[in-house]
Amino acid sequence: MNATLTIVSDEDQSLTYLTEARKHHTQAVIAKHLGVGVRTVSRWEARQSRPPAYLSHALQQLLPFPETSTEAGSFDFIDLFAGIGGIRKAFEQIGGRCVFTSEWDSYAQKTYAENYRDGHPIAGDITQVDAESIPDHDMLLAGFPCQPFSIAGVSKKNALGKAHGFACETQGTLFFDVARIINTKRPRAFLLENVKNLISHDKGRTFDVIRRTLTEDLGYHIHYRVIDGAHFTPQHRERILIVGFREPVAFDFDALPMPPKGEHKLKEILHRTDGTEPVLEWDESRFFDHKKKRVLDKYTLTDNLWRYLQNYAEKHRAKGNGFGFGLVTPESVTRTLSARYYKDGSEILIYQGKSKNPRRLTPRECARLMGFPDTFRIPVSDTRAYKQFGNSVVVDVMAHVARLMQPMLEADTLEPELALRFATA
Ligand SMILES: C[S@@+](CC[C@H](N)C(=O)[O-])C[C@H]1O[C@@H](n2cnc3c(N)ncnc32)[C@H](O)[C@@H]1O
Repeated sequence: MNATLTIVSDEDQSLTYLTEARKHHTQAVIAKHLGVGVRTVSRWEARQSRPPAYLSHALQQLLPFPETSTEAGSFDFIDLFAGIGGIRKAFEQIGGRCVFTSEWDSYAQKTYAENYRDGHPIAGDITQVDAESIPDHDMLLAGFPCQPFSIAGVSKKNALGKAHGFACETQGTLFFDVARIINTKRPRAFLLENVKNLISHDKGRTFDVIRRTLTEDLGYHIHYRVIDGAHFTPQHRERILIVGFREPVAFDFDALPMPPKGEHKLKEILHRTDGTEPVLEWDESRFFDHKKKRVLDKYTLTDNLWRYLQNYAEKHRAKGNGFGFGLVTPESVTRTLSARYYKDGSEILIYQGKSKNPRRLTPRECARLMGFPDTFRIPVSDTRAYKQFGNSVVVDVMAHVARLMQPMLEADTLEPELALRFATA
């Protein structure tokens, strides 16, 4: 059979993406994202010159996400340390299908099961799961807990000796279980998420073990970057993302759109008191009194707690420490929502005027702050919900990274960096 090979120039694709991107962004925003001048973008639009092919991928990153993927199931992934599925959400948006989940906390499992109904049971403790029993998958996702581990005690010879491999250095840690599964299943790619401090932990030795395990022992090509959620939501949340590919591919974290921090303000996620707050049938009046158009009083701090927090902050200020509560207004970008927010809410307290104590965010507002849509159900107590959102990820960050990885997850191209599309006739 004769097959003709048609090589389609990616310049056409760049132009299509530019036209689409202009429906959502100004020339200035596009220019900044691409690192070119506004006049260049304007010349492209006027068809006086063409956007180069290599910008096609970066331009695609500026397009809005579809509500739901049109290509469901174009690759399979597994969701480890799944929590409430924040990373999963992003990879479903680009057409991934989750084929295995592990999460051992029964309350997180409850929220997860309520929101993702795909039929497969949720496996518990990952350390007890035989890697061979996990279904084949293209992509492994893991926001593994940073359980501190030190390589102290491992002799230099052992630490560097390939013969010992990752088993020796990481045994007994949850990262070991991630590595063990990658080693057995050899997925095309993975995404690991962790706190920013992973890089500096134990003077950089922990990260070095992780990096060497993934590259030298497992043979993957990795890229990592610390990303602040404040580019996408009104919350500072710096997390390290480590992306790995089995084959060398032209993945580039620099192609990620980074809108200026501070563009998103807290008011975007607060319950609206002007009568436009949506009535969610699954929340009803759990957080918000729709008749009175205000957040329930139980989220306002008691006099005792507010006094305690102020005294605590004052004590530390006197000692020259910066600890204290984080008082915010609708125009603010918040501190990082932590899993301990349920205790006193001190990192994010909403100012309610001089005559009223500040209030905490409601769990629904926490969901929004983390980028979860209002369709996300919260079937657990407030305490559990605060913990779950505080442990999760900014879904928007994950969504952008997922889209950046997408071409490398779906295409079996040997030279993806050329971004050529072949059509046979
Ligand atoms: C940092 S959170 C990850 C949250 C997740 N990325 C999300 O979007 O919600 C880590 C999760 O790992 C779970 N976990 C810790 N040890 C585990 C184990 N041995 N087996 C399964 N899950 C575990 C915790 O219960 C927690 O929900």
